Amino acid sequence: MHRRLIAPGALAASLLLAIPASAASYSPGAPGIGDPYYPAYGNGGYDVSHYDLRLKYQPQTDELEGTATLLATTTQDLSRFDLDFLLDVSEVRVNGAKASFATSGRHELEITPAKPLPKGTPITVVVRYSGVPSTKSAYGFSTWHRTPDGAVAADEPEAAWWWYPSNDHPLDKATYDVSVAVPDGTQAISNGTLQSTSSRLGWTRYNWRSNKPQATYLTTLAVGRFDITTGTSEGGVPVVNAYSKDLGDNDGAARASVERTGELVDWLSGYFGPYPFSSAGGYVPNTTTGYALETQTRVYYSPKQFANGSNTSVVVHELAHQWYGDDVSLKGWKDIWINEGFARYAQWLWSEHEGEGTAQELADYVYASHPADDAFWTVKPGDPGPDNQFDIAVYDRGALAVQALRNEVGDDAFFAILKGWPKDHAYGNASVGDFQKYAEQVSGKPLAALFDTWLFQPTKPAAPAARTVSIAKASAAPAQPKSWKRIAATNDLHAG
Ligand code: ARG
Ligand code: ZN
Repeated sequence: MHRRLIAPGALAASLLLAIPASAASYSPGAPGIGDPYYPAYGNGGYDVSHYDLRLKYQPQTDELEGTATLLATTTQDLSRFDLDFLLDVSEVRVNGAKASFATSGRHELEITPAKPLPKGTPITVVVRYSGVPSTKSAYGFSTWHRTPDGAVAADEPEAAWWWYPSNDHPLDKATYDVSVAVPDGTQAISNGTLQSTSSRLGWTRYNWRSNKPQATYLTTLAVGRFDITTGTSEGGVPVVNAYSKDLGDNDGAARASVERTGELVDWLSGYFGPYPFSSAGGYVPNTTTGYALETQTRVYYSPKQFANGSNTSVVVHELAHQWYGDDVSLKGWKDIWINEGFARYAQWLWSEHEGEGTAQELADYVYASHPADDAFWTVKPGDPGPDNQFDIAVYDRGALAVQALRNEVGDDAFFAILKGWPKDHAYGNASVGDFQKYAEQVSGKPLAALFDTWLFQPTKPAAPAARTVSIAKASAAPAQPKSWKRIAATNDLHAG
């Protein structure tokens, strides 16, 4: 085929014709994905399949610059769309053509492509940007944490705005290439597999790849002086861990815990099925925040988690999330019980394995230690509200609900559910309602009343309901299981 020259007028006319007659139906994508807890989080009108982030970070000045390339597909006839982002943008291109852009709302980058985009169009969005993340805040907070030798991006439910533009909601999962150049002698840690490193003119570039669908909040970046260790679990899972070189007194306990990642991944596989990702591990930066976070394949641990000695319980919690939260992600933030209830329950199973209290003993203890008028029971783990999303009740009452389910359906069905769920919803999203349906299907029992009692009532389940969890010692003040304080500390430190 040869090219034909056409008059500019004819070109304009043919372009006009290329736009369907229903051009009036082209409209802006919504500024939020539709999560009632966080109406402005995520966006409408497109679906991202891959993020390619090519960054350069200077720890001394906290200057971050980069180019983000997003591969996406439009899900409506689109005249304009948003990304969630806070840094300063210098250029945006959509399918190669310069697009105009503006900021709006608290964290929206509003992009208007040169031509409207019909539904189902594959698009490549290139965003060039720079900025000092620690100077940016939205809603009065920042989740970009500077350290003496670098910085860390790891938080929930929001962390991405400070370092890359995204459709910031777990409903839109994508694969990632994260490439970061840092001054020689400094390391950059992210998710997945370290594909390569290269050195040039005083800068070292780290190229990380995460090749399974990953939620935006589970995508992490840490820059600092790290010691990186590698290995393979007995079950064959490659493990990469990283420790800040400045952990001081916490260094030994951090390594004695996180170096057991391979063993604990294999142990959890016995309950949850094959490990869903190509790599596992964690990193312990020199931060002052207290929580840990289940960042996909590479868990974030605060050094505070190891301030009282080794802590395999928190490692079990965050690794359990790799199945419950990361592989199967929530549909909306109200579904947080599927993440935290099961990650906490995994800690109970580990306690049982270690001979430090059975899951039933921990359930009995939780039930008995909160009297009926305790505010603990006003939090509904199945729909806690954005302010209580990480309340202790979501974890402890949440795990109690899991034990109630176990006692209702029996061990055979329960452990079949535990293992079948990640397989049934692999790399996808699911709600509490979906989980109830799945548990009913596997157990053959109607479970609406049980779920309502344990997850959706703002009251302490009364004796008859409590008996369904076999709380024999409910009123007899059961002894505190040995593992209790360690497990509770996983949360006490969250706020820090
Ligand atoms: N999913 C995390 C965990 O349970 C909780 C993170 C809480 N976030 C926070 N900023 N405190 O391990
Ligand atoms: Zn958790």
